[in-house]
Amino acid sequence: MGSIGQLCGLLGVAAVATASYSNRPDYASRFTFAAPYDQSFLEGYSILKHIGGLGPYSNRMSYGIGRDPPDVCTVDQVIMIRRHGERYPQGSDGVKIEAALDKLYSSKITEWKGDLTFLKSWEYYVDSEGLYGLETATGPYNGLLTTYKHGAEYRVRYGHLWDQSHNKTVPVWTSEFERVVQTARKFGEGFFGWNYTDSVSLNVISESEDMGANSLTPVCPVDDLEKCESLSSDLPAFRVAADRLNKQNPGLDLNSTDVYQLMFMSVFELNVRGYSDWTDAFTMDEWKWFGYTQDLSFYYCAGPGDPYSKAVGAVYANASLTLLNQGPEKAGTMYFNFAHDTNITPILAALGIASPEKDLPLDKIPFPSSYEIGNIMPMGGHLTLERMSCNATAATEKGVYVRVILNEAVVPFNSCQEGPGFSCSLANYTDMVNEMLPDFVSECKINSTMPQHLSFWWDYNTTSTYNHQTARYIPFQGDTFV
Ligand SMILES: *[C@@H]1O[C@H](CO)[C@@H](O)[C@H](O)[C@H]1NC(C)=O
Ligand SMILES: *[C@@H]1O[C@H](CO)[C@@H](O)[C@H](O)[C@H]1NC(C)=O
Ligand SMILES: *[C@@H]1O[C@H](CO)[C@@H](O)[C@H](O)[C@H]1NC(C)=O
Ligand SMILES: *[C@@H]1O[C@H](CO)[C@@H](O)[C@H](O)[C@H]1NC(C)=O
Ligand SMILES: *[C@@H]1O[C@H](CO)[C@@H](O)[C@H](O)[C@H]1NC(C)=O
Ligand SMILES: *[C@@H]1O[C@H](CO)[C@@H](O)[C@H](O)[C@H]1NC(C)=O
Ligand SMILES: *[C@@H]1O[C@H](CO)[C@@H](O)[C@H](O)[C@H]1NC(C)=O
Ligand SMILES: *[C@@H]1O[C@H](CO)[C@@H](O)[C@H](O)[C@H]1NC(C)=O
Repeated sequence: MGSIGQLCGLLGVAAVATASYSNRPDYASRFTFAAPYDQSFLEGYSILKHIGGLGPYSNRMSYGIGRDPPDVCTVDQVIMIRRHGERYPQGSDGVKIEAALDKLYSSKITEWKGDLTFLKSWEYYVDSEGLYGLETATGPYNGLLTTYKHGAEYRVRYGHLWDQSHNKTVPVWTSEFERVVQTARKFGEGFFGWNYTDSVSLNVISESEDMGANSLTPVCPVDDLEKCESLSSDLPAFRVAADRLNKQNPGLDLNSTDVYQLMFMSVFELNVRGYSDWTDAFTMDEWKWFGYTQDLSFYYCAGPGDPYSKAVGAVYANASLTLLNQGPEKAGTMYFNFAHDTNITPILAALGIASPEKDLPLDKIPFPSSYEIGNIMPMGGHLTLERMSCNATAATEKGVYVRVILNEAVVPFNSCQEGPGFSCSLANYTDMVNEMLPDFVSECKINSTMPQHLSFWWDYNTTSTYNHQTARYIPFQGDTFV
């Protein structure tokens, strides 16, 4: 309503302005003629879209379909899987970053010039090694804060699904990894507010490969991920940057790999400080290529270009299909789950969301590209399935429909969009998904001694034992959860 009211106001001003303008030209200067609809779709460049999944959350660029359900529908079940919030680099990446910084400083340059002038006052932002791998707690893109806010926003959107008259806890599921568990807790605090402690039962699911299919982080043992190591960062764009910075600062001897590491480091500075002077040390083309390295890595190692990703994603896609068909009466209304980026991109691949028609080329960037990780799985990225109960319209029948929402943008299926708001009927969604899903257990040769399907959504703990941190997080224990 706010936007409609505002729109009327603007149109009102415009009408007066036009009348005045025709009668008394001098009145024209009193009006700004602000256009009610923004006309500036220029280059569409934002650093947040060219840093892959490493940097702050941003919404997926939408196709112009409203986020709210269509007027004739109400959401009666929501199933979400979310990545942890903005974080520090991993310890293993910290080692590479620190090596690149050492190389920079070992040049013994005392007066930085050109694009690196800012280095005279810049300092690295990881104050303590213990912070590596954890969510950030500072700056505007603070991971703990954005996660809490996401919970609070979903309370507004989905609060009607929480039936407080039943004295039952609401299960929430997280994989067993320090920052993911903390994300589940922060989201829960945001959603349930003062009721969090008593109303939630946090279920912590082991990330061990031995969990087989009963996992938020299933592993495909037959998938050869070593091939991913060979994706090169020695690209012409980074050689250009190294050459420029070296020329501006005689004595400096950076190469393309160093440039990649410095760009990588810069992105995480956004998660910590919210800004990075390094952002301007590289050109738009260089950032575009940096983003593309991330697209390639996800596409070929945890996305549609990996021969086993669809099978891995099929675990969640199949089990959530069961929840949707059981519906809110039988299965319950809210399924909030937390895991990592590379656990969610296989689900997208399994459902055919954002999959390009052709493999991504290694030597050039396709324009437009449907597979931009900044638009698919930034920090805090999430996939939300909405089950909607809809009344009839002139064109659609009363019934149950499904919508897929990726980072708050509604993503219709090309082959199923006949429902209200371009949704897919549950019956057609079920047929479509059943037809497209491979079988995880047989394709990935999961040992018969391991769980063969996902059962924790139907077989969960109702205690609040893990809702809060009970021990101090001890860094450098292989990122294990304590
Ligand atoms: C659907 O129709 C019923 C009966 O008219 C009405 O009570 C309900 O509010 C409608 N639902 C929506 C989402 O409009
Ligand atoms: C949530 O908290 C309020 C205020 O303490 C309380 O009245 C309400 O019963 C709580 N709801 C549940 C489901 O515990
Ligand atoms: C709700 O559950 C709690 C914990 O199991 C119990 O102490 C309380 O008496 C229950 N309240 C109602 C109204 O059943
Ligand atoms: C459920 O509770 C039992 C007993 O406290 C515990 O051993 C188990 O790890 C819990 N499972 C989950 C998924 O939280
Ligand atoms: C850049 O230099 C580092 C050592 O400083 C080296 O490990 C790396 O292989 C070099 N990269 C290229 C592309 O030569
Ligand atoms: C479901 O699929 C059938 C057969 O393809 C089609 O006729 C119908 O329009 C679809 N309905 C919806 C709501 O998508
Ligand atoms: C799909 O899910 C159902 C119910 O959870 C399960 O019985 C079935 O084994 C699953 N199928 C596959 C291929 O995982
Ligand atoms: C399955 O697991 C068992 C027990 O760990 C092991 O002995 C067996 O070799 C495994 N089978 C395959 C096919 O990997």
